[in-house]
Amino acid sequence: MTSTDETGATDAPMTVPAFDPADPGPPCAYARLRAEQPVVKALMPNGETGWLISRHEDVRAAFADPRLTRPLLSAWPPREDADAPPPCLPTFLEMTGEHHTRVRRAVSPLFSRRRLEFMAPRIRAMAEELIDTMVRGSADGTGDLVASFTEPLPLRVLCETVGLPHEDRDLYLPHTLTLLSAAGLSMDEILEALYALQDYASGLIDRREKEFEEGGAGGAGGDDYISLLLAESRREGGDLTRDDVVSFVVTMLMAGYKTNIQHTANALLALLTHPGQLRRLRDEPEGIDAAVEELLRYVPLMNAINVLVALEDFTLHGQRIRAGDAVLPVIASANRDPEAFPEPDLLDLTRSPNAHTAFGYGPHYCTGAHLTRLQLSVALRVLLEKLPDLELAEPADSLPWDETTPLRAPARLPVRW
Ligand code: HEM
Repeated sequence: MTSTDETGATDAPMTVPAFDPADPGPPCAYARLRAEQPVVKALMPNGETGWLISRHEDVRAAFADPRLTRPLLSAWPPREDADAPPPCLPTFLEMTGEHHTRVRRAVSPLFSRRRLEFMAPRIRAMAEELIDTMVRGSADGTGDLVASFTEPLPLRVLCETVGLPHEDRDLYLPHTLTLLSAAGLSMDEILEALYALQDYASGLIDRREKEFEEGGAGGAGGDDYISLLLAESRREGGDLTRDDVVSFVVTMLMAGYKTNIQHTANALLALLTHPGQLRRLRDEPEGIDAAVEELLRYVPLMNAINVLVALEDFTLHGQRIRAGDAVLPVIASANRDPEAFPEPDLLDLTRSPNAHTAFGYGPHYCTGAHLTRLQLSVALRVLLEKLPDLELAEPADSLPWDETTPLRAPARLPVRW
């Protein structure tokens, strides 16, 4: 990538600021970048360079900027060799224009706050079962919340919500995890995992189509989201194609799985290291919804992993960004910007307003935002009701991190109750 500032001088890129193992917060370098270099060229772990955007208002604007597009996973970073990869179906993030609008019009209503209300009792039942199992399996009143709770719950919730078979998880999860760890992978490995997920999703849709056929002319099919979207794809003049429904399944597996697991583990770590606030939440559970928003802001889940590509040349804070350049709005930094949040490094579970950017902004705003909120709020209620004296059983600074994907989270959360 060739890039110059307005004077024409080139500058060597810094490296993307890395997490500090001793600190659950965002890399501290962002405080200086926000103040002095709000747009700066940086070297990413995959060897590419991109422009880091660190201020809250710029991050929001970048997510919604029509001059910036999401690159195709199967074609970015661009390869030297001329062979174009065989086409993969785009995930929602990769869709553009009318296609994206049409697909979102069909899918978004299924993920509205009201539509998801049916999941609240089901999430509660799943969370209660997981906690009961952990408690029953413990001889000494201690356990690991990651293995027993934060790891299994989000996948079950996703499967139950959208109608994805949980029993197939060994078929699809390895490919999801391969794709999410993409930094060290060759393009061939990325493509292999993408095709494998696409094949799984297509086979699942075949099975659902068979159920439709067997349902006769009225073809009721199921009432899970995959079946509802498939019904829409079969409707004369419907908004979706069969390929869009395959993309829906692949997108859910890419966007809706590890994000939620890692966020939940980080959120619980934040609460367990602020025991006074945790107790207040236990005594005043009506504050849980505001706490969920604050945890979304406070947890620095996404550190320069959202990659956009410039479609045209433009200048931002004096830096000349060229068509084809990568631009990385850093959510982990935006959510700690003092211009947007008073005392940004303070966890304040009553913070209001709280215009965090955890779910992005604009046309690609996270489809799963309400599901994530609902799941965390129910999970917190259940935890605090069942284990009111919950506390960390080991010092927080001795806990190992799971860094198998760029979404860092505690690998274990040893607790006693
Ligand atoms: C803590 C959990 C989560 C976080 C922090 C998160 C964050 C994000 C962000 C930042 C984006 C926007 C990316 C961009 O504009 O380039 C996004 C998009 C998306 N997320 Fe989430 N997400 C989470 C959970 C989920 C869940 C549980 C689902 C599914 C049920 C989901 C489905 C999606 C989809 C489909 C998109 C793409 C929307 C589009 O392109 O139109 N996410 N997410």
